[in-house]
Amino acid sequence: MPRLVVVSNRVAIPDASGKSSAGGLAVALREAFQRQEGLWFGWSGKVSAHPSTEPKMTDKGHVRYALMDLTATDRQEYYSGFANRALWPVMHYRIGLSEFSRADYAGYLRVNRTFARALARLIQADDLIWVHDYHLIPLAAELRVLGLANRIGYFHHIPWPAPEVIGTLPGSQDLLRAITEYDLVGVQTERDADNLRRGIIQEFDATQRTADVIVLGGRQTRVKDFPIAIDVSSFEQAACRPARHRLIQQTVASLGSRSLIIGIDRLDYSKGIPERMESFERFLISNPDQRGRVTYLQIAPTSRSEVPEYASLSRTVSETLGRINGAHGEPGWVPIHYVTSAYPRGVLAGLYRIARVGLVTPMRDGMNLVAKEYVAAQDPEDPGVLVLSKFAGAAEQLGGALIVNPNDKFEVAEAISVALHMERSERIARWRRMMDVLRRYDISWWTDAFLTELASQRKASKTRSPAPV
Ligand code: F6P
Repeated sequence: MPRLVVVSNRVAIPDASGKSSAGGLAVALREAFQRQEGLWFGWSGKVSAHPSTEPKMTDKGHVRYALMDLTATDRQEYYSGFANRALWPVMHYRIGLSEFSRADYAGYLRVNRTFARALARLIQADDLIWVHDYHLIPLAAELRVLGLANRIGYFHHIPWPAPEVIGTLPGSQDLLRAITEYDLVGVQTERDADNLRRGIIQEFDATQRTADVIVLGGRQTRVKDFPIAIDVSSFEQAACRPARHRLIQQTVASLGSRSLIIGIDRLDYSKGIPERMESFERFLISNPDQRGRVTYLQIAPTSRSEVPEYASLSRTVSETLGRINGAHGEPGWVPIHYVTSAYPRGVLAGLYRIARVGLVTPMRDGMNLVAKEYVAAQDPEDPGVLVLSKFAGAAEQLGGALIVNPNDKFEVAEAISVALHMERSERIARWRRMMDVLRRYDISWWTDAFLTELASQRKASKTRSPAPV
């Protein structure tokens, strides 16, 4: 079996107890490494005065971690600037929020080149290389310039927008060309795969060999959907014996006989948090009998706070929350509880389990693993109801949810009401439909499907050397 080399911006190193971060990417890759030895390369998360040219190596179990520090300028231009101020909003269809700067773009390319040079020295001829996330789109092109002919796959965790949308971003033509240096490109949904293939075909003189395969300049790239999944059984178990955590105890105590509606998201404008709060307000206005009978708990750990659009979102959320609680709250009842700390997976599982409604209404999302976790955490005899945005990738798989347009507050408010009043038999039928899908396409399926497909690709010709982006 070839060695697996994973490359990602963030790297989840297990702590002294052997546990690593609970994020979706960390869980997914831990699963991949369970079956084969490998190397995980990426940013250490640290900033240092001098750029790394060599990674720092750490061995944990049968995985070698190779970590690069960034300078403050690199972090600013590559991570906060181009990746999160220019690419992220466009990928999430928020063209108006995208701030392109030539300096940031140059920094993004520079970090990708530095990473490629450091990584290339660690690569063996038969390694399978699996690159993750939008921070690293040009990495394969840089590795090819250095003569690597390995099979290289890329997984795009966030949406890939329609060609007219990605085309608004300066540099997008370079990125589309660079992506064809991968042998396999995985995206979350069929819609994303179709958008990306159309983008490449429209931009270049590329041909479509089969439904999934694009050929450009004699080199072929397979673009296919591999919806990311969760470790269903371990999440079910975590929900059955929830952590004895203060937040769970306090939530249970403060709920009394009230129903809990839960939202859990990184604080990001793509998640639609202020819009969701306003939908909940609309629900309260339309259902006065529900005042004092429901509590909406929104957990939203702060994210990317150095990026101005995120700081501005944080203010908007606080204002919206204050206004709604002020206008609708009563002594003894606060309609929306808002928490910005991050909690361990066992705590979240316990909270999902007691929530009657999982409110997952992003304006746009690659997949949204919270939707899947909410379903997996439910009591099979008395499950809650998932209200899910049609713009989350998960909606392609979770037809048992109440699917809503998050831009329509009346529609979301109505779905909350339907969810709270739904008969137990219907809740069970919907939940079973979703669990069947989650069990069939769980995290082992995801890693196996991607890696088997990558391993079956032909190796790239050594003689071809693409223009660096
Ligand atoms: O959704 C894309 C993604 O890069 C995930 O892979 C990751 O968990 C998340 O965003 C976190 O973003 P950041 O590293 O900027 O905190």
